[in-house]
Amino acid sequence: MSLVIDDPETFDPTLTNVIEQDTLKWIFVGGKGGVGKTTTSCSLAIQMAKVRKNVLLISTDPAHNLSDAFGQKFSKTPTLVNSFDNLYCMEIDPNGSIQEMIEGSESSAMNSIMQDLAFAIPGVDEAMGFSEVMKLIKSLEYSVIIFDTAPTGHTLRFLSFPTVLGKALGKISQLSGRFGPMMQQMSGMMGVNADQQDIFEKLQGMKEVIDEVNNQFKDPNKTTFVCVCIPEFLSLYETERLIQELTADGIDTHNIVVNQLLFPPKTSNCEQCLVRQKMQRKYLDQIYDLYEDFHVVLLPLLTHEVRGSENLKKFSNLLVQPFHKTE
Ligand SMILES: Nc1ncnc2c1ncn2[C@@H]1O[C@H](COP(=O)(O)OP(=O)(O)OP(=O)(O)O)[C@@H](O)[C@H]1O
Ligand SMILES: [Mg+2]
Ligand SMILES: [Zn+2]
Repeated sequence: MSLVIDDPETFDPTLTNVIEQDTLKWIFVGGKGGVGKTTTSCSLAIQMAKVRKNVLLISTDPAHNLSDAFGQKFSKTPTLVNSFDNLYCMEIDPNGSIQEMIEGSESSAMNSIMQDLAFAIPGVDEAMGFSEVMKLIKSLEYSVIIFDTAPTGHTLRFLSFPTVLGKALGKISQLSGRFGPMMQQMSGMMGVNADQQDIFEKLQGMKEVIDEVNNQFKDPNKTTFVCVCIPEFLSLYETERLIQELTADGIDTHNIVVNQLLFPPKTSNCEQCLVRQKMQRKYLDQIYDLYEDFHVVLLPLLTHEVRGSENLKKFSNLLVQPFHKTE
């Protein structure tokens, strides 16, 4: 029983379509916890680095996956990956932007406004952090940016950021409207008004950045989302939800990576492997049925972890050359 379908009618079972689409600027890699998002995004980044001027891989997961995968410490500024000359990684903390502002600021008025804002508008911290990262990235002009997305919560949080920042702007203008005269009076002594104006302008700048990238995220020439799953019921269910969410939000997606497939040798009589392989086959068939117009990329479960540049380089070839068990 072979897992590989050699049907010329099905879409090319590789990520070559992504690697060759040279208009792509943003690639998201997502799926539930532990399915292989980091392995896939590192592999894709390695393959993209062969055809692009430079590639930036970003993890938005506080669990800091990229450092583990490459065995190299990354931080919130882009760092060249060892043994590459055009592949960079960065790991960002989705929270902490406001805290940093507060810690770095001398003004107690400013701090209290920021604290109020963070309290009144959930997600504003994250939205501001994301905007700052996007601003930095845009100024660095990478040819393609790949996101290894966090497995928890709403995968497309960034789509809500314009609304969140809009609310924050509303709140700030409301503040200056209500306390305007008083602020004016005090501003001479404490610089409150100037601070408020500062924050308003800063937020406005952030919102502009977020609005612009969000427009790009909805442009299929610039952005695509690669879904990663494993051939099991729960993972399929989550993938369907994810794809529906992406479709509803207008984000392009047409690739599914199915990871951890078992390819036991033909001569194997290991009961466990054969039973699991049969189960995987069933879910794989469902994937082919459900996603006829997707590229379905199959990745084998290896007997060792896929860690370190050399292992990842080897593994990344499976994204462009379909896996065939030869024995
Ligand atoms: N095909 C595979 N064969 C063997 N090991 C694999 C395979 N894919 C992933 N792994 C290993 O499984 C572990 C989890 O993979 P990975 O970190 O890519 O998943 P993830 O989806 O990013 O997880 P998380 O949700 O925790 O971020 C890693 O140790 C990785 O090396
Ligand atoms: Mg990960
Ligand atoms: Zn076995």
